[in-house]
Amino acid sequence: MGAIVRFRGYGDVEVPVGSSILEAATRAHFPEGSACGGVCACSTCHIYVVRGAELLSEQEDEEADILDKAFDVRAASRLGCQARIVKEGIVEVEITRESLDAYENEHPAERGKYTKNAASAR
Ligand code: FES
Repeated sequence: MGAIVRFRGYGDVEVPVGSSILEAATRAHFPEGSACGGVCACSTCHIYVVRGAELLSEQEDEEADILDKAFDVRAASRLGCQARIVKEGIVEVEITRESLDAYENEHPAERGKYTKNAASAR
């Protein structure tokens, strides 16, 4: 059995327990940045957890250190590559502007596609 990750504005993807939020986004081709390749070194995978935070792994010190350097950090902030689903259920997340920007930089052919209408401009 798996979990559902709902990416606000993009859709749902079902993934096995143990997957990270970033892995879910990658599986569904949703625009979450991952400049460091998912090794907790960049903050471009920054998301806000809207619902289901209790289904995710605890935040480690390394993740907190990286989030310190992220943009527009909130109580619900996580790094998508570090937040792993540990229980079945529905996790709803919002991809941050920082992450959308990073994704577009990593995929030049899609530049402007996701950030054009994003609500939270810097
Ligand atoms: S992809 Fe770089 S910290 Fe998550």
